[in-house]
Amino acid sequence: MRFGVLGTGVVGRAIAGRLAALQHDVRMGTRDPGKTRAVAEPDARGNPPFGAWVARHPGVGLATFAEAAAHAEIVVNATNGEVTLDVLHAAGEANLAGKVVIDVANPLDFSSGFPPTLFVKDTDSLAEQIQRAFPAARVVKALNTTNAAVMVDPGALSGANHSIFVCGNDAGAKAEVTALLRRFGWLDIIDLGDLTAARGAEMLLPLWLRLMQSLKTPIFNFRIVR
Ligand SMILES: NC(=O)c1ccc[n+]([C@@H]2O[C@H](COP(=O)([O-])OP(=O)(O)OC[C@H]3O[C@@H](n4cnc5c(N)ncnc54)[C@H](OP(=O)(O)O)[C@@H]3O)[C@@H](O)[C@H]2O)c1
Repeated sequence: MRFGVLGTGVVGRAIAGRLAALQHDVRMGTRDPGKTRAVAEPDARGNPPFGAWVARHPGVGLATFAEAAAHAEIVVNATNGEVTLDVLHAAGEANLAGKVVIDVANPLDFSSGFPPTLFVKDTDSLAEQIQRAFPAARVVKALNTTNAAVMVDPGALSGANHSIFVCGNDAGAKAEVTALLRRFGWLDIIDLGDLTAARGAEMLLPLWLRLMQSLKTPIFNFRIVR
């Protein structure tokens, strides 16, 4: 299947790399492919330069946001939440229409430093903002409640005996995303219902960030015990 992964950060890399390993045709989206490919220094968070990553993943294409979305049958939004709507507009409404858009982004506002606050919550969510802006897209919120490394390799953490959530208004889109998550190794995939459930999934972030500080690692996840 053809995927467009919008975003070249740790999340975009993790998902694109995993999709390519599963033999999918993956194109990542960025503002300026030439500039992104040429980055030779680690980013502000110490992540290795994109150029080194893509050199190790020769099967993954790099294109503009619009080219990556046009290429895709399924689009993954792995961009900074504050610019997500701008990026999706750059990707182009026509290139998203009718497609599953997996929204992994979180509405984090770092303008007052760490910990960030949420710039939308309680009565709305980033995923719903995306769905309203692009009504023909089939938005599914997923994977935003865990770390990039865990997203694509849940089995590395307690044998995947932990939980991940999906929500969205389109049952067929959720079924496609659920099938993909199973390929990633997820066993406990909980359907939270329509896209308003993204409010809760995004509002888990303040708790997630506190847990990261207390546990001194980002490699953990929520497990829902029944
Ligand atoms: N880090 C995690 O483990 C984790 C876990 C769950 C959810 N998330 C969420 O996943 C998303 C991606 O996180 P990340 O850490 O991989 O990457 P990120 O640093 O939040 O975002 C990277 C992407 O945002 C784009 N971007 C930044 N500023 C832009 C601007 N002004 N205009 C257009 N595009 C811009 C960059 O474009 P270029 O490629 O052009 O530079 C890049 O592709 C975030 O919403 C984050 O909250 C992260």
